[in-house]
Amino acid sequence: MNKTFTVLKDTNMSFKAASQSTSGEVRDGYTEQQQLQYTKYLKQLLNEFQERWCKTSNSTVSYSNLEHIRTLGTGAFGRVILVRHSNSSKYYAMKVLEKERIIKMKQVDHTLYEKRILEAIRFPFTVSMETSFKDNSYIYFVMPFVPGGEMFTHLRKMSKFEEPIAKFYACQVVLALEYLHFCKLVYRDLKPENIMIDKNGYLKITDFGFCKVLQGRTWTLCGTPEYLAPELILSKGYGFSVDWWSFGVLLFEMNAGYPPFYANEPMKTYEKIVAGKYRCPSSFNSDLRDLIRNTLQVDISKRFGVMKNGVMDFKNHRWFRGIEWEAILNCRWSAPYVPKCKHPGDSTNFDNYDDEPLRPGSYCRFESEFLDF
Ligand SMILES: Nc1ncnc2c1ncn2[C@@H]1O[C@H](COP(=O)(O)OP(=O)(O)OP(=O)(O)O)[C@@H](O)[C@H]1O
Ligand SMILES: [Mg+2]
Repeated sequence: MNKTFTVLKDTNMSFKAASQSTSGEVRDGYTEQQQLQYTKYLKQLLNEFQERWCKTSNSTVSYSNLEHIRTLGTGAFGRVILVRHSNSSKYYAMKVLEKERIIKMKQVDHTLYEKRILEAIRFPFTVSMETSFKDNSYIYFVMPFVPGGEMFTHLRKMSKFEEPIAKFYACQVVLALEYLHFCKLVYRDLKPENIMIDKNGYLKITDFGFCKVLQGRTWTLCGTPEYLAPELILSKGYGFSVDWWSFGVLLFEMNAGYPPFYANEPMKTYEKIVAGKYRCPSSFNSDLRDLIRNTLQVDISKRFGVMKNGVMDFKNHRWFRGIEWEAILNCRWSAPYVPKCKHPGDSTNFDNYDDEPLRPGSYCRFESEFLDF
């Protein structure tokens, strides 16, 4: 059974909202009543998040039991390796970060946040952590392996997503951001490379390297140029609004096949973002245009997601008409696209990378900096 179902099973209170009005007639859109009930469920998830935040978890997976298979992806601080647990034969994605690189790039705090957040979150559309280790040179995060590959790969292969596929993914991202924000977490790196597709066609957001607990506002410039919100570029203090902006960019890119703000140099991209200048392809219908206009909204006071109706502005938008949010959350909606995964360790949905062996040093480096890991 995959993680998605375990999450809901582990939770004492699974979500079941009334999908019908008292008179028995099916309502169009998502009602206040449904949202009220869903908020109770989110409060339960928040309690569980807070409990896990305060304690370290136990796992039977240890480093010596993991057989390295191949590299799945590389990034600024290390790589992600497909590994197999010799006792259970389960597959995991192990993110390996080099301590020295983390220090050089002043990312110790971000990495500590990444670890604690991965340990504490549990939601159907986010990855979570099985266990973590450190040795003389590296930090290791072990997560369940998501075999369908990155949304990025599928998007490039298909050129753009058919509307039902884009809508199916968009709903899950809305629910995932709603959950993270409810836990006071700002994600800050939404993009197709960080969204994985599970074997059942549902999403798992990965890479919590820039995610942090938000109290009030924050100022750090981080993320990916094409996905940065104007308030973040302008070094104004910012909050959860930056994730909804990135969601607008993702909506556009999934439906168009390319991002709304793009130039050869990041500075030029930033100019376009700050000016809020983009052009929708003629294939976008009026509902999609309206949704994107309200999400790629430079004026935060008018941006969907952070206005007084919060996430309801999305859940009730015309573009999402017909979506059963509860069915999506419980993975009961039939996925419009299911990637080919022949067996649990099938990694053919991932690009090929050079596999360099890990070489932990003979003495412990940066012990004090990584004491809390
Ligand atoms: N749980 C997972 N299952 C399968 N593949 C994964 C998983 N987590 C990450 N990956 C793969 O590894 C790639 C890199 O992981 P991630 O985005 O966490 O690191 P990163 O981009 O190096 O981090 P950073 O952006 O902090 O440099 C992902 O884009 C994805 O292809
Ligand atoms: Mg990444």
